[in-house]
Amino acid sequence: MAMATVTSPTTDSARTMTVLDPACGDGRLLVAAADRLRATGHTVRTIGIDIDPTLTHPEGVDEFICADALDIDWSAVLPGGCADVVVGNPPFRSPLPRGQHTPSAPTADTGPYGDLALAFIDLSMTLVRPGGRVVLVLPTSVLASRDAGRVRRRAEQRAVLDTWWWQPDRVFDAHVDVCVLGFTVSSAPRTVTGSPVWSHVVTSSVGVPDLGTFTVDGTVGDRCRVSANFRDEYYALVDAVVPSSGAAPTRERPALVTSGVIDPWHCHWGERPVRFACCGPLASYRAFRGVGGTTVGAQGAGRRADPHGGSRG
Ligand SMILES: C[S@@+](CC[C@H](N)C(=O)[O-])C[C@H]1O[C@@H](n2cnc3c(N)ncnc32)[C@H](O)[C@@H]1O
Repeated sequence: MAMATVTSPTTDSARTMTVLDPACGDGRLLVAAADRLRATGHTVRTIGIDIDPTLTHPEGVDEFICADALDIDWSAVLPGGCADVVVGNPPFRSPLPRGQHTPSAPTADTGPYGDLALAFIDLSMTLVRPGGRVVLVLPTSVLASRDAGRVRRRAEQRAVLDTWWWQPDRVFDAHVDVCVLGFTVSSAPRTVTGSPVWSHVVTSSVGVPDLGTFTVDGTVGDRCRVSANFRDEYYALVDAVVPSSGAAPTRERPALVTSGVIDPWHCHWGERPVRFACCGPLASYRAFRGVGGTTVGAQGAGRRADPHGGSRG
């Protein structure tokens, strides 16, 4: 599928097409992409970059440069200024497993949990000519995570996400869910409103209907007055509401609809059990009110909760 997405950049087939992989490893993806393009009549020149100094010149790659793709003089690599196609399976590196809260890629303007792969999206967009293609294997976290938001926005300002691949099974050895995104670079900057998310790459594959575009204004705070907060009032709700598996709700004791029972177009209240207030629907605020802080078993095992003072991990 990733290969299929690189077969159609708009170009004159008589011209030599430059195909670049900025993190080429042993070059297999780059060579496969070039082979596909050649099979459709194009003349192709391949350029592979990789930071790994132990790599030898990959077979089938015309030009190989051992360098950090995020810190290289691209005008020297691409004398014409741009490639026709960028393909790649760039490094993924989330800062989370190492407990760091700093961006993996100093060059990427992302939030603290931004994956290194985001820097390669930004980079690829700057290296391809209008009408050219960018096709990258990426972690699925780029599709909707907050810290990929600015990169998604910049990508949409530059290109149209028009091809994608995703499947629920892990097809790579790495313990990470991946997708392939294919973009066609636009000839002029595109207007992007709001914060684009690309979750349709997954939802369209699993039959979740497209929710379309919502017209929204203001915030919840503009319409509601917050009269209770989680820490002080959460447990006090126990006797005032009917959780999903409780008795029939009444006007005095309405249903508690938690986010866990809401799916698109359907409320599962009464169908799905809900863990609310530690021990299930019947846990009583009064039961632990007398003992102050107590150990409760829900919302995280062994969490100490104080109905008057919040939780104490
Ligand atoms: C997941 S491998 C992909 C290799 C190849 N594209 C493939 O599909 O087999 C990622 C590659 O990125 C290279 N890499 C990591 N950081 C890089 C950087 N800053 N610049 C260039 N290459 C980098 C690694 O050395 C590694 O070969």
